[in-house]
Amino acid sequence: MNDMTPERDARVANLKGMGCSRKRVEDARFTQGKGNYVDDISLPGMLTGDFVRSPYAHARIKSINTEAAMALEGVVAVLTAQDLAPLSLHWMPTLAGDKQMVLADGKVLFQGQEVAFVVAKDRYIAADAIELVEVEYEELPVIVDPIKSLQSDVVLREDLDPKAPGAHGPRKHHNHIFTWEVGDEAGTNAVIDDADVVAEASMYYHRTHPCPLEPCGCVASMDKVNGKLTLWGTFQAPHVVRTVASLLSGIEEHNIRVVSPDIGGGFGNKVGVYPGYVCSIVASIVTGVPVKWVEDRMDNLMTTAFARDYWMTGKISATKEGKITGLHCHVTADHGAFDACADPTKFPAGFMNICTGSYDIPIAYLGVDGVYTNKAPGGVSYRCSFRVTEAVYFIERMIEVLAIEMDMDPAELRRINFIKKEQFPYQSALGWEYDSGDYHTAWDKALKAVDYDGLRKEQAERVEAFKRGETRTLMGIGLSFFTEIVGAGPVKNCDILGMGMFDSCEIRIHPTGSAIARLGTISQGQGHATTFAQILASEIGIPADSITIEEGDTDTAPYGLGTYGSRSTPVAGAATAMAGRKIRAKAQMIAAYLLEVHDDDVEFDVDRFVVKGAPERFKTMGEIAYAAYNQAIPGIEPGLEAVSYYDPPNMTYPFGAYVCVMDIDVDTGVTDIRRFYALDDCGTRINPMVIEGQIHGGLTEALAVALGQEIAYDEMGNVKTGTLMDFFLPTAWEVPNYETDHTVTPSPHHPIGAKGVGESPHVGGVPCFSNAVQDAFRPFGNRHTNMPHDHWRIWQTANALGLHH
Ligand code: CDP
Repeated sequence: MNDMTPERDARVANLKGMGCSRKRVEDARFTQGKGNYVDDISLPGMLTGDFVRSPYAHARIKSINTEAAMALEGVVAVLTAQDLAPLSLHWMPTLAGDKQMVLADGKVLFQGQEVAFVVAKDRYIAADAIELVEVEYEELPVIVDPIKSLQSDVVLREDLDPKAPGAHGPRKHHNHIFTWEVGDEAGTNAVIDDADVVAEASMYYHRTHPCPLEPCGCVASMDKVNGKLTLWGTFQAPHVVRTVASLLSGIEEHNIRVVSPDIGGGFGNKVGVYPGYVCSIVASIVTGVPVKWVEDRMDNLMTTAFARDYWMTGKISATKEGKITGLHCHVTADHGAFDACADPTKFPAGFMNICTGSYDIPIAYLGVDGVYTNKAPGGVSYRCSFRVTEAVYFIERMIEVLAIEMDMDPAELRRINFIKKEQFPYQSALGWEYDSGDYHTAWDKALKAVDYDGLRKEQAERVEAFKRGETRTLMGIGLSFFTEIVGAGPVKNCDILGMGMFDSCEIRIHPTGSAIARLGTISQGQGHATTFAQILASEIGIPADSITIEEGDTDTAPYGLGTYGSRSTPVAGAATAMAGRKIRAKAQMIAAYLLEVHDDDVEFDVDRFVVKGAPERFKTMGEIAYAAYNQAIPGIEPGLEAVSYYDPPNMTYPFGAYVCVMDIDVDTGVTDIRRFYALDDCGTRINPMVIEGQIHGGLTEALAVALGQEIAYDEMGNVKTGTLMDFFLPTAWEVPNYETDHTVTPSPHHPIGAKGVGESPHVGGVPCFSNAVQDAFRPFGNRHTNMPHDHWRIWQTANALGLHH
């Protein structure tokens, strides 16, 4: 429109649409303690369930005696595998095509495994009763190392036929799960063998855990009169839970209502189906009253889905000038006792095959072997899209190691190899089509912002001063450039348990011009109620403040695959825009009728339809909504509603350039992050303030993982970091001041050009923090040391390099 008057600006501002830093509407209740979480739910007669858990990582169960526990006043039931077996519920399918014990069936395979489920009048009685359940164990040899597991005679999964293929093809050994291969191995090896330069590295991406503030839990309520099961829970994918619950229980899906109320963080931890959900449902069916199960912190850290645990070896080749010619990657993936990874079916190692990163690498190969060990199951994408964090860590370390091999500046090596702007859409050697990018512009902006050359000069001077004995502090410059892959579907490539990964939005405009939109996703703190209303405001011209966004109730929301892998904006955000456009199309017809012109003679402008060439003749969206319900319009049904189920044609590929400047005390291993600069490109930005919040959070979780957060086991399979005394959760004390920046390269296939952002900072942040530590020691011969870089490990690195007196 050519109307650029202040009055029009005021109308735009009134919408609080896309691009506006609208304050989060959720915060009024969160900041006042008025959120409604699973543990806030209290129903009449409700019982509490809790688990007897195995102290052993591998043991045969000789007997379980529940008599003393049952005799305790207030205990209503104690369930064991024997009780669940007649219902065929003592095992359950996992998201990865394996099966998992709901309650220990003959043996236990990891410390903390669920052995019996005590149901009592309250949580305290349940805790006392757990102590009274007598379980006789016979210890078995424990395997916590996946490489040793593949050489061991000890059979972990006695329930599986060792010769039968698994869900992802043939198995090589009784503790082997699958081999997944992508790319051209022979061709890649030939290129590497002939190359001018080859760099190699082996790295362990340690096991860690998403550790949301609120652990997992549910309340199951079986109404036997109506035959209806209601399940409130911390679910990142409520519709999928409903379908799985129906398949497992035999209750028809329309008789199951799944509700995700407020969720205190998910980060992948709340995607899977856990034994607690199954046991609560069974207990509610058995007792006829609601049953609540909520984990404590130790349960959550020790038993619910872990992340990472990848042993990665790589070879990267280049010409003398530094142009990369080939990449070879092999991963031994520790999946614990059951393969319960949450990945799309066709991708048993998630999107690890984005490991060629942001670089134009002509040929590559990825091989992944999944392995069973005596550790908790899981393998979720902790704030990332299906193993992309591992992939980006791998390539960003390989680039650094290649730079060392070539005695080259790592920033320059990246620049030489970036995919160029004109190469998009870019087909990667491992099968992805990157939608859009402008890496060189982002990189130049980042390096300029931090005065990269000046930093390198300062670092060289620091090294000289260190050698002269004038300082005991080294300086590291961490670089990372990442490309994310977010927004699974498309349906043709991506499904979970056979359900295609589309998403949805349903909009109802009320007669008075306000609206409600329901989505198949569920916010866990990302602010969907704020930002999806902004998409709609811009699309349909109703102020965001007049639009309610509702998610998480399967009785009302359209079917969707949920929120994880930063898929909400790329998929449900697109569905929202598309549903909005359907509303607009109908509104246009109504407006044209009201204005007595042809449909094509009106056009949309901010919050109204105006007659082309006669801006004084218009109908506002409020007037149109009223007419939709109150006026008989020939040929048009009453009402103003629309629904969209969106199957994305491709993923979106956000990217970013990060720089971390770190000082390291060589004698104590203490790190001080002097500066952290993060440039993100997530295409069209819906709410810059929300994006910044996402980046702060993701970087903080990246800092945690890179610098200390770990689920560590001893040789007996005991979890050594099962409480927040040992498991590192950063506080304001450790977190630096982040500088954020951006470029905007819209996605060409997304209706509003937006890409996801929630996980980018985690994906790019981990290698950036790690590279800073490694870079500080590069002048003294360091090639690669494994994360987490806690003070003790950094001290050991310095010591191994002979930097201590
Ligand atoms: O799926 P999830 O919500 O975890 O991730 P996301 O789609 O990246 O969105 C995280 C938050 O950032 C949401 O509130 C989005 O609407 C917002 N966002 C945005 O404002 N602009 C973008 N281009 C991408 C996300």
